[in-house]
Amino acid sequence: MRLCKTIEEIRSLINAVRAEGKTVGLVPTMGYLHQGHLSLVQEARRRCEVLVVSIFVNPTQFGPHEDYQTYPRDLQRDAGLLAGAGVDAVFAPEAAEMYPAGFSSYVDVSGVSQCLCGASRPGHFRGVATVVSKLFNIVRPDMAFFGQKDFQQVLVIKRMVEDLNMSVQIIDVPIVREEDGLALSSRNVYLSPEERSAALVLHRSLNLALDLVRSGERDTNRLKERIIKEITSEPLADIDYVEIRSLPHLSGLAELSGRALLALAVRFGKTRLIDNVVLEA
Ligand code: PAJ
Repeated sequence: MRLCKTIEEIRSLINAVRAEGKTVGLVPTMGYLHQGHLSLVQEARRRCEVLVVSIFVNPTQFGPHEDYQTYPRDLQRDAGLLAGAGVDAVFAPEAAEMYPAGFSSYVDVSGVSQCLCGASRPGHFRGVATVVSKLFNIVRPDMAFFGQKDFQQVLVIKRMVEDLNMSVQIIDVPIVREEDGLALSSRNVYLSPEERSAALVLHRSLNLALDLVRSGERDTNRLKERIIKEITSEPLADIDYVEIRSLPHLSGLAELSGRALLALAVRFGKTRLIDNVVLEA
């Protein structure tokens, strides 16, 4: 496995494999890898001949008071995991390589990026769309893999690819959870043991919503009330948002019909966790 720190290094590797006509897959990550990331890697390994994983804690997608500085990082451990998973190249640039002095171009996806995490983290999806565009231009993958854990992120990327005629296929992969239901996240390491067990309320409330829908509930306000009640029964949980929105446009929804996204963002202490499930009426 090759570890590339510069754009020039990864470009020349990609040029060589492209000349051989091989298909290239890209898994963009911010590192501190867990089984969720590795499930994307496995799916990509299955579908592409050459597999590139990027590891880059992208400063432009963090708000001024968010955890950019303290975001967990361990490149050596990540590289070991990726070598074991059959990855061909890791692209792990420094921030100045991606954003040199004078950088001034951004990608703004309107519509789907404005609600949910876009509303509570202003500028977040602008940073995500910008860095993902850059990674697509650098690696020129045939396919790129994203997790449903960040469901809105997948919708934003798909919208961007369609609107800007990027020739990459976006593949989304299901959420990987711990045995007790907590969705894997690099941020789970911030949780104290008490917060870790309180955070199980997320999965519990998603399951409650699925049960209610199965037993015929279609009124999204009543569903939200029940979910909010369940989450607030957990004293360490502090709700950022609980929302049910249409797919794929994320419009507001009074009655469930067809597929809809139930998305949660909840703080446990200083740690903000997100989770979601697709509801089907
Ligand atoms: P990061 O949070 O490192 O996640 C990288 C990819 O792993 C994302 O597509 C995310 O949805 C997926 N992922 C994380 N936890 C998962 C889980 N439990 N199950 C399945 N997939 C999971 O998302 C980002 O980085 C960044 O925004 C990025 C796209 C790299 C742009 O900077």
